[in-house]
Amino acid sequence: MQALNLTDDLRSRLNKARAGGLKIGFVPTMGNLHDGHISLVEAARKECDVVVVSIFVNPLQFGINEDLDTYPRTLEDDKALLASHGCDILFSPSVREMYPDGKGIATIVDMPELSQLHCGISRPQFFKGVATVIVKLLCMVQPDIAYFGEKDRQQLTIVRQVINDLSIPVRITGVATKRAASGLALSSRNNYLSEEELQIAASLYQVLLDVCRQLQSGSQDYLRLESEASQKLATLGFVPDYFHICQQQSLLPVQPDDQNITILAAANLNGTRLIDNIAFDLCDLYSDFQPFNQQADLV
Ligand code: PAJ
Repeated sequence: MQALNLTDDLRSRLNKARAGGLKIGFVPTMGNLHDGHISLVEAARKECDVVVVSIFVNPLQFGINEDLDTYPRTLEDDKALLASHGCDILFSPSVREMYPDGKGIATIVDMPELSQLHCGISRPQFFKGVATVIVKLLCMVQPDIAYFGEKDRQQLTIVRQVINDLSIPVRITGVATKRAASGLALSSRNNYLSEEELQIAASLYQVLLDVCRQLQSGSQDYLRLESEASQKLATLGFVPDYFHICQQQSLLPVQPDDQNITILAAANLNGTRLIDNIAFDLCDLYSDFQPFNQQADLV
């Protein structure tokens, strides 16, 4: 695996690959890698000739009182993990390489409607920061395919829309959420949680599944389901941020005719922000209904 920090080096390395007709796959990350990230790298490895992973903790997407300074940075461990999972090029630029004045850039990519919903309500700067850095990274790497996790459903939806609106020539592939045996979605922020908190955190997924079951049983009382789910989370010890039943494609509020649904939730647990979602068709039994410990590929 080649580790590069400079955009010029990355471009010249990838220009050679492209000239040789090789298919380039790209996985953008903020590091502190876990099996969720690795499932994206593996998906890229299966489809592409050259796998590029970026590690960049992007200051633009953190709010003033958020965890930019304490966000876990574990570059050496990440390098070893990537090298053993088939990554060809690790690109880990400095903040100055990405933002020469150290703070940001004058151009901002935004999707005002969707970026202000759900996570955007309490993190108004977040998706502008994500969309901007993703467009910048895509211009640097120019991959054939870029891989994003369904765990961050709103981010994936926004990236798809931005790519479409700006006619950026890349295919976006969504990869299923990787969960711990408890059902908890893997996340770098899980590192902030104690053993006891990890157990509580797993109930976020249970509450999502419970509402999914009620919808599949025919309930259309969306506001009641949302508010009962938030109350349940509060009883369990979370400070709920939002719990929204949405149309799967648009992530706008669900309508009674909709068959394809996504439930999005965010909640804080002792100051750690957790997000999760499930996407399903009203008519199909949600495939994760089987007990978690019977699933083959859980970690
Ligand atoms: P980060 O949180 O490091 O996540 C990088 C990628 O890994 C994202 O596409 C995310 O959805 C995916 N991912 C994280 N946990 C996952 C899990 N449990 N299962 C499957 N995929 C998972 O998301 C970001 O970084 C940043 O916002 C970024 C897109 C890199 C822009 O800075």
